[in-house]
Amino acid sequence: MDLSTTLLGLKLKNPLMASASPLTASLESIQRLEDNGIAAVIMHSLFEEEINHEIGQIDHFLHIHNHANAEALSYLPGEADFDNLQSDHYLEEIRRVKESVSIPVIASLNGISAGGWVSYATKLQASGADALELNITYIPTSIDMDGRAVEQMYLDTVAQVKQQISIPLNVKMNPYFSSPANMAKRLVEAGADGLGIFDNPIRVDIDLELLSPLRIPNITSSANLSETLRWCAILYKQLPCSLYANTGIHTAEDVLKAIMSGADATAFTSLLLQHGEKAVLSLLEGITHWMEKYEYDSISQMKGSISLIHTDNASAYERNSYMHALQQYRH
Ligand SMILES: Cc1cc2nc3c(=O)[nH]c(=O)nc-3n(C[C@H](O)[C@H](O)[C@H](O)COP(=O)(O)O)c2cc1C
Repeated sequence: MDLSTTLLGLKLKNPLMASASPLTASLESIQRLEDNGIAAVIMHSLFEEEINHEIGQIDHFLHIHNHANAEALSYLPGEADFDNLQSDHYLEEIRRVKESVSIPVIASLNGISAGGWVSYATKLQASGADALELNITYIPTSIDMDGRAVEQMYLDTVAQVKQQISIPLNVKMNPYFSSPANMAKRLVEAGADGLGIFDNPIRVDIDLELLSPLRIPNITSSANLSETLRWCAILYKQLPCSLYANTGIHTAEDVLKAIMSGADATAFTSLLLQHGEKAVLSLLEGITHWMEKYEYDSISQMKGSISLIHTDNASAYERNSYMHALQQYRH
């Protein structure tokens, strides 16, 4: 049975990836993921703010010494003086992980603006990452910022990062666009070689004891898979890019549904945080068992088999299904 698939031009031994999280922030847990059969890991993110903070600190340091006695130019720091910074630590982590595992390692940059920080992408590539994922999650809170301006911010950032690297670039999308399919197309035109469908930002709540807002990482369940399936099914074969399904992958059935919708692979975090690295092994057993039972020989055989590519008018189909589903409850 052939469980292999291809994503971002990388050959994966199966369609299971660990998405960015604290579990992909330590070599030990990445090794455990590999031991349990994971096909690739997406490292936890390095944030634009972390890089910019450090650039700011460097500026500040240089600035202080520029005002000092001109003879004191030797005070100025060389690059080596900053090798304990968070972002350099991230590069070192990638190097260590690459030396220790044989699966593809995807670095992750998380930011929202085109600016100096994007040049860090070159360093991530030099440290050995097989591909780079860009997560741009921006919640526009200004009532004066229109959708075009938000979208342009995304596109400019993707184009700038793409210019810095020759390894494949994945963009982890979110569904907050009035036309996600058109946005997906424009992200690919801006330079994305693949799309992650979707990111699942933090959950908003209120603590009624402390009377304060809460921002909580979103731990999902299979109930959150619906939008993932919908957009994989809509985008399948429409764009020259790879797709991976993210958000709501918890069971072998979820993986099979995502592949049938058109995803090349899947990525998950909540499942691993809840059940540990061994959950990968259970997924693999479940997938194999299902494929044996229904006589599938390969993952590629089922890819996109239940996507909207087989539908003449996908919008009409969506509308029809919507009406039909609601009418089922009429007496
Ligand atoms: C605790 C936690 C930390 C996360 N850290 C990151 C991160 O550093 N970068 C990122 O792009 N996504 C991050 N995510 C999002 C996950 O990679 C993933 O997209 C999301 O959890 C949806 O997948 P799931 O349904 O399998 O949990 C994090 C999620 C959680 C729960």
